[in-house]
Amino acid sequence: MAAQAPQAGRALDGRVILVTGAHGALGEAAARACAAAGACVVLLGRRVPKLTRLYDAIEAAGAPQPAIYPLDLAGATPDDYADLAANIERDCGRLDGILHCAADFKGLVSLENTPPEDWQRALHVNLSAPLLLTRACLPLLRRREDAAVVFVLDDPARVGRALWGGYAVAKFGLAGLVQVLRDELEHSPVRVHGLLPGPMRSALRGKAYFAEDPGQVPEASAYAAACVRLLGAAGRGEPATVRAAPERAPVPRLHVLPS
Ligand SMILES: NC(=O)c1ccc[n+]([C@@H]2O[C@H](COP(=O)([O-])OP(=O)(O)OC[C@H]3O[C@@H](n4cnc5c(N)ncnc54)[C@H](OP(=O)(O)O)[C@@H]3O)[C@@H](O)[C@H]2O)c1
Repeated sequence: MAAQAPQAGRALDGRVILVTGAHGALGEAAARACAAAGACVVLLGRRVPKLTRLYDAIEAAGAPQPAIYPLDLAGATPDDYADLAANIERDCGRLDGILHCAADFKGLVSLENTPPEDWQRALHVNLSAPLLLTRACLPLLRRREDAAVVFVLDDPARVGRALWGGYAVAKFGLAGLVQVLRDELEHSPVRVHGLLPGPMRSALRGKAYFAEDPGQVPEASAYAAACVRLLGAAGRGEPATVRAAPERAPVPRLHVLPS
């Protein structure tokens, strides 16, 4: 991977950030925002054509050259995560942050009627995989002065209800994982945060709110700035769980021409 000279003043200049679920709504918006903020983003997802399109868009925008890492978290093993960490070290030389956006949600169904394999996949992709991936990357993260791991949570008041199934249970577990891991890493250079975004337009949301007008729901890009903030130095001092309100993308400055 080619190193690029950082531009002065950007929040993630020189950092290497791994984004899971990178071709999902929040993953893509956050990956683009991290790249625009100067990071080399490692795009992890399970659909190569979508990863390639995102790679091309980031490269065309003149951001630091990203990297693609195809991986299906449902079948990934600890050895796969060890390979991931080794590949990042070899190709990028460092890792400064992980943003866990990938999420498995098949749709609303009662626990009683959830097929066992769906239950197991939901818990694995949404809870076990983020931990196993993070563990494999910790030796790399510990080498940085300020590293951050951000797990994307979901609102317990919204999903802690009937029919949200293994997705909801795993998200409750993920909130607990944030607390425990953050405490264990308190005296290390690695910060742990849970990011609690509000509703956003995505394939995942569409599986639960199929009757709503998607145009009334904020775009995922409204939460991208919060991701960048937590992954960079500005995230120091932020609490374990950060509730993010949707933010508008900054309006480009107009150049007033002399009359
Ligand atoms: N949308 C909301 O209103 C909302 C609210 C609160 C929190 N969240 C959280 O925000 C995060 C992003 O969700 P989103 O709304 O952006 O949903 P999304 O667009 O559906 O993105 C989810 C991503 O996870 C990927 N994924 C699923 N299973 C995977 C697997 N086995 N291996 C690798 N990748 C896998 C999906 O890939 P495929 O395209 O291949 O399926 C997709 O790229 C999630 O953690 C979600 O829980 C969302």
